[in-house]
Amino acid sequence: MKTRHSPEQDAATHSQYDIAIIRPEMRADDVNLRGDDFPRERLRAIRKGLRTLHTLELMAQTIYKFQMTKARSEVNRQLVAAMCNEMTHYQDFQVKLYEYGFRPGILRWAYWLVGFVFGFGSRLLGKKAIFKTGIWVESKAVHHYAELLETIEWDDDTRKIIEKDQADEDGHIGRWTKMLETA
Ligand SMILES: [Fe+2]
Ligand SMILES: [Fe+2]
Repeated sequence: MKTRHSPEQDAATHSQYDIAIIRPEMRADDVNLRGDDFPRERLRAIRKGLRTLHTLELMAQTIYKFQMTKARSEVNRQLVAAMCNEMTHYQDFQVKLYEYGFRPGILRWAYWLVGFVFGFGSRLLGKKAIFKTGIWVESKAVHHYAELLETIEWDDDTRKIIEKDQADEDGHIGRWTKMLETA
């Protein structure tokens, strides 16, 4: 499992987004129906991208859920915070899907299973495995986010959300890396 930082991750680290906020405020007026005047090709790419992100966030929150134990520990506190953050991301992309008039991917339950296997599996193996799994999955996510940011012509609101969420994932890598060092 690699823990090396890529250029995308470094870019995310130095981003303008406040990763201490794990659930940014959202107002009713922030909901907008979008995409009506977009060409079909652009819409198709956006739909694919949003479904991918929505599915990955389901996997991420499931991993953290099943990594947790009942122990009153700092690790579990951090895992609750990470789970909450992933739930925010999941909401972010679900809202964007419906704003565009799209539906979530119907096979996303398969990623719940993958999340369960990674989450529960690493929990059985202990603290180090929990952190290493987090670092590995989040590194993949940051990379994936970078690719989708680069290749899809997003609307400005959605782009900002993807950038913020990518910065959050990078924050998760940083946290698990630090905790792994002292584990
Ligand atoms: Fe996420
Ligand atoms: Fe994350």
